[in-house]
Order: sequence, then C-alpha cells, then structure tokens
Amino acid sequence: MSNSDTTRVQSVAQSPEKVMNKLVSLAKRRGFIYPSSEIYGGLSSCFDYGPLGSEMKKNIKDLWWTTMTRGHSNIVGIDASIMMNPTVWEASGHVSSFNDPMIDDKTTKRRYRADHLIENHIEKLRRDGRDDDAHRVSTYYERASDSENQNKAFYDIIIAEEIKAPDTGSSDWTEVRQFNLMFQCNMGALADSSGTVYLRPETAQGIFVNFHNVRESNRMKVPFGIAQIGKAFRNEIVKGNFIFRMVEFEQMEMQYFVKPGTQEEAFETWRQKRFDWYTESLGISRDKLHWYRHDKLAHYADLAYDIKFAFPFGVEEIEGIHSRTDFDLKQHQEFSGKNMEYIDQVTNERYIPYVVETSAGCDRLFLALLCDAYTEDVIDGEERVMMRFSSAIAPVKAAVLPLMKKGEMGEKASQLHNDLAKKHLVQYDAAGSIGKRYRRQDEIGTPFCFTVDHETLDTDTVTVRYRDSAKQERLAIDRVQDFLQGNIV
Ligand code: GAP
Repeated sequence: MSNSDTTRVQSVAQSPEKVMNKLVSLAKRRGFIYPSSEIYGGLSSCFDYGPLGSEMKKNIKDLWWTTMTRGHSNIVGIDASIMMNPTVWEASGHVSSFNDPMIDDKTTKRRYRADHLIENHIEKLRRDGRDDDAHRVSTYYERASDSENQNKAFYDIIIAEEIKAPDTGSSDWTEVRQFNLMFQCNMGALADSSGTVYLRPETAQGIFVNFHNVRESNRMKVPFGIAQIGKAFRNEIVKGNFIFRMVEFEQMEMQYFVKPGTQEEAFETWRQKRFDWYTESLGISRDKLHWYRHDKLAHYADLAYDIKFAFPFGVEEIEGIHSRTDFDLKQHQEFSGKNMEYIDQVTNERYIPYVVETSAGCDRLFLALLCDAYTEDVIDGEERVMMRFSSAIAPVKAAVLPLMKKGEMGEKASQLHNDLAKKHLVQYDAAGSIGKRYRRQDEIGTPFCFTVDHETLDTDTVTVRYRDSAKQERLAIDRVQDFLQGNIV
C-alpha cells in the first residue's frame, strides 16, 4: 500500500463568484449540465442535464424514492399528469394567490420582484454600516408586507428610497403589480379561455386529487403517505445562480395524511427524518445545513420550516416541510363536489385528514451536492480538483485503467470493465498518463479506480485507488465485483 501526501487547500478562501464560475464550467466541460438550446443562445433559467448529470440526478431521485417508499410500508408512490383540469388550480388557490409583486422599468423594459429590490436595498444599507436606516426601511417593509394594499406600500418604499435596478441602475418604475407564476397554455383547437390549462406549479395537487384513488386501490389506512417525483413549472422572473431557480424543475414531494389532532407529532417526525436524510444518506456536511421557520406562511399552511443549504451565494432553501392542515382536501371537496372524508373502519369516525408535506427540489439538491463536493487540494505536489460525492450519488462508480491498452493487460482490463459494467456505471480509460487519468476521474467524483498493471499478469491482482485519500492497495481481480458492491452505499 502506498500513502500519498495529500494537503487540502483553497476552496474555502475563494470568492463565491469564483467558486460558482468554476462549478458552472466543470459542469459543462464534464457533461453534468449544459445551458438549454445553447446553439441558439440558450433560454433563460433552462438547463439540460448531460450524460453524467442525468446519471447523478437519477441516483438522487432513486435514493429519495427508496427512502420514502421502500423505507416506509405506509407510503406508496404515484406519477400524476403534469396538466390537470384547470379547476384544480382554482381550488388549490394558485389562480388567485400564487403571485409575486413585480415592478417594471419603463426605460429598459425589464421586470423585477419588488420585494427583492427592497430586501437587497436593506442588505446594502447594512453592509454600508447604515444600521439605523436599515432598521427604519425594514420596519416599513414589514408593515408593507402585512398591509392590505401591499403593492402601493412596496411602490412607495421603492420611490422614497430611490431604489434603482441592480443590473442597469435605471429607476423609471411602473406601479407594483401582482404577477401569477403559473404558465398557461391552450389545449385542443380553441385558443380562447375555454381551452386554458396550466403547467403544474407543484406536484402536490396530483396527489391530493388522487387521495381516494390511492387509498381505495391500495387499501391504505390513515396515517399514510403518497410520494411523487415530477416536473413543476413556475414563470419565475428572478433568475440566476445557475440551476438554483429554474422555470422548469423537478420536485420530490410526499404528502402524509394524518388524523386531525396528530399533525404536530407527524410534523416533528418528518422534520427530523428529512434533515437526517441529507446528512446520513447524502453525506452533506452538517454545518452547511440550517433550519428556517417561516413567519409569513403560504396560503395553505399553518406551520412551515425550510431546510436551507449554505450555497456559495448565500444560505437558501432546498426543502420545505409544511403543515398543510385540511386546506387542500377541503378545497377539492368544495370545488369538485366529491366527498373527501376518510372513514376509520375501526372507530367509524369520519374526518378530512390533515396533511404534512415534505417538498424537496431535485435540481436545488443537485446544486447543493455539487457545491458540497467541490474540493481543491494538492496531491504529491500536484493540484487537483475533486468532487467528493458520496458513492451512492456519484455518477460513475469506478474506472478501469489499463497501464497499457494493448496485449494481455488490455484484454484483462476490458474483461474486468465488461463484468463491472453489468451492474454499475463504470468507465474504461486507456488514454494518457495514469496520473492524468486519475485526475479525470477525481474531477467527476469517481470513488474508485482499478488499475491493471504488470503485476496483474503475474498475480491476478489489480490496484484499487481511493479518490479522497489517493491511497492505493492491491486486490484480487476476482474480488473487485464484491468490493465495489460492498462499497457503494
Ligand atoms: N408543494 C409545496 C411547494 O411546492 P415550495 O417551497 O414552493 O413548496 C418546494 O417548493 C421546493 O421546490 C423548494 O424547496 C425548492 O427546492 C424547489 N423549488 C421551488 N421553486 C423552484 C424553482 N423555481 N427552481 C428550482 N427549484 C424550485
């Protein structure tokens, strides 16, 4: 066994912009994420997952799905349609309440979130050491947020504080208006409002409207959960920070139906379980995760916490845990005319269940994992970039590297690769120096490299090299499959 001299350096000391630029560039260069329709100049806030990105995203979703469904005998999964009867969105409150306060600049024709302009202004006052002013504006802002006439109150603050557009410096403002985040499209031949359907802004409603279908077809008894992974769409005006805020993204949601009065206990249980998943199953550093309790609640919730991650650009939400009460089922009962009650077969009690929701963003989690894994260190005097993914998430589980590509060495390596590739995504790389090949694998987070060398021909052993420590040891070639299986957790 040989020990390499490894020193970890740098990554913490770099500016957030620099880290993000490096991540975006690595993600494109190595096939994790590309800008969407790039040859046409791209499309704002839309991205494509490349070969490694789509593998890694699938690993994240598989892990979530397995944890939620296989790990809980009372949770089952569904895959509901993206487009639904438009009345669903009236019942859920999204048509009337899923709005952001927007303000336009008449000169540049650009649109901004009014609340974000004010929040950034308060932040800037703080950074400039003007704490009294920051406090004064923040007090106005809190009052404005709660006021009946929120739009006018936000507008007044923007004008009084002479707040300018952050990117252009212009301030030729319109009034503040509420802007609905749902994408509308037309179904069928008619282009009038009778054919209007929405792209779902959350996957949750597909679960609520299927409450009785799932309960009856699978003989589910309260408490039980329904899990779903799927695309959601929001016409977000605030864009940027790579895949953090997209207009088309994937959610991993679970709605847990409980007896009224037991929701607080269920909420606490799920709050803890979901936090532990990030540290224990995904290996995210504990100190990068934070809790945030909402003061201002969405129209459906009576209690809400976010799990936030310390991204290079700030501490931001990756998952919401919401106590949704009986709001959604009651609304669907009213709008559909169908009874949404549950009848307890033992006690004969009838009630509309309360719901505890866990709602994670798959793309945001992907970005958090990229940020958490990015490491620069020096190994044997040479700098390297390494993605320290957990083996469960890493897109490529191992690489087989023959010291020489031809002859018996090449044949043994090809054979080993073919065997391993039946169960795992394993790369075969015979190009360039062995050091360069290790670096290529480190950069995409491959946990293990198996090197077929001269000794392999004499002893039928290979070298296994561990990504993080760069330590190497020898392993019998017929034990490699078991080794890999046992080390991918
Ligand atoms: N059903 C509840 C719900 O949708 P949410 O807090 O609006 O709650 C849940 O969204 C999660 O979905 C967020 O924590 C985030 O990870 C993800 N998400 C929301 N909007 C997103 C966007 N524009 N881009 C990427 N992910 C988003």
